[in-house]
Amino acid sequence: MNNDPYTLAGEAAAALRGAAGLDSFDVALVMGSGWVPAADAIGETVSEIPFADLPGFRAPAVAGHGGKIRAVRTAGGRTALIFLGRTHLYEGLGVDAVVHGVRTAAAAGVRTLVLTNAAGGLRPETQGVGDPVLISDHINLTGANPITGTTFIDLTEVYSRRLRDLVREIDPSIAEGVYVAFRGPTYETPAEIRMLRTLGGDLVGMSTVLEAIAAREAGVEVLGVSLVTNPGAGLSGEPLDHEEVLEVGRATAARMGVLLAKAVDRL
Ligand code: HPA
Repeated sequence: MNNDPYTLAGEAAAALRGAAGLDSFDVALVMGSGWVPAADAIGETVSEIPFADLPGFRAPAVAGHGGKIRAVRTAGGRTALIFLGRTHLYEGLGVDAVVHGVRTAAAAGVRTLVLTNAAGGLRPETQGVGDPVLISDHINLTGANPITGTTFIDLTEVYSRRLRDLVREIDPSIAEGVYVAFRGPTYETPAEIRMLRTLGGDLVGMSTVLEAIAAREAGVEVLGVSLVTNPGAGLSGEPLDHEEVLEVGRATAARMGVLLAKAVDRL
């Protein structure tokens, strides 16, 4: 058996193609915490496979991450792979496990990737809880990178300006911001939140950046969207709670679903 991560991704992609009866997929969407309830709006389900049944995948550890891959056909006739859940670096399974879904999507023919996440807002003076924010750039403070060796990938435009402009045609009110990723699983301290504001961050979370890098390595165009589920630690006087993150997702599911469904048919 060959355990090379790219080979495993090819095997998982073949299984996804077979289950859906499709040769290729146009788009993949990774539904982060708070986004899973929005998935049903994106299209008609063609097939659904639990992570545990696919080469290289592990069942997700986090409540609110569904743990399966759904193939759908959208109203506009696009084919999409929807990842209901993701693996995070803090689960301790390694970087290859974190980006396996993205490598699988690329191997399945996907040229456009939508990465969603729940994030703490670093600018509560302008960000509302429950607002989507387009990721314009990132700061990777995870200390990890999915690429090993001398592959020097350009990250000047990780999150495609073209795709952000398309989403703003659907919703001109949507803001943009810089997403900062820590490894987690702890939330940040108030001192770290003050540091991130000084560094130019607008959003903070525990995902997305490694997947975005793996996508750029594969030449896949990336759209990143954060759902602001809480002000960063110390900015509101309230402690942070994962249940609150999920609740914001449930409350905004209809709006996020419509946004994603319209976006996927334009990407
Ligand atoms: N910090 C890190 N990750 C998060 C947060 C946060 O405040 N909210 C949702 N995910």
